[in-house]
Amino acid sequence: MIKHLAIIMDGNGRWAQSRGLSRSEGHRAGAERIGKVVDAAMALGIKYLTVYAFSTENWKRPIEEVRYLMNLIPEFCTAKLPDMMKNGVRLRTIGRTDDLPAASRKVLLDTIEKTKDNDKFTLNIALSYGGRAEIVDAVNKILADGVKPGKIKEADFAKYLYAPDIPDPELMVRTSGEMRLSNFLLWELSYSELYVTETHWPDFDENELKKAIDSYMGRDRRFGGVKTK
Ligand code: FPP
Repeated sequence: MIKHLAIIMDGNGRWAQSRGLSRSEGHRAGAERIGKVVDAAMALGIKYLTVYAFSTENWKRPIEEVRYLMNLIPEFCTAKLPDMMKNGVRLRTIGRTDDLPAASRKVLLDTIEKTKDNDKFTLNIALSYGGRAEIVDAVNKILADGVKPGKIKEADFAKYLYAPDIPDPELMVRTSGEMRLSNFLLWELSYSELYVTETHWPDFDENELKKAIDSYMGRDRRFGGVKTK
């Protein structure tokens, strides 16, 4: 079984539109879906789930939509805390979370603190996250550490990323059909298998997750080498 699954949760807007609902209602349904997919992933033996909730580019969306998403974060944390404690789920984030509104950030940090010793599963939410920003932030930390040119190897560099203790995802799923990375985990996805489904995120259920995993299981991962055996 895979250890780390990454998901680009796309299609909340299209899901809402197809039902005559507002985009906000699509995001609300999308947030609700995260909890269900955590349960399904845990039941399958997955240990880490990273979801792309808000990119560095998403700040360009209309202010009302940004505000709605920012309010959804603390709401999600508060609503899901009991389940996270009961099921041993640790909350983490990656991204420039200092950019989040103070009120959202506070609840997020409180939830991270309260769940930090839970060890069954890690839900890692990418917030104000960009893959290029992550690499640039790592470079700046390396420079601040005064590391000498020529001294950094790939494994050293990876220690400066946002979540150096989390293994790279074996599989990245994108919902809603688009075939692109959209600045998600650029370093970490180097050797990941990709799976794209037409299903919009709010409809992504246990069955969809199983289909993605089955597709992954059927693949031949060679990491640039040739097949041995
Ligand atoms: C993409 O759909 C989705 C987003 C940009 C936001 C994802 C956010 C959530 C699933 C919920 C919020 C998360 C938390 C942690 C509370 P889109 O709006 O781009 O859909 P579209 O492409 O159909 O318009």
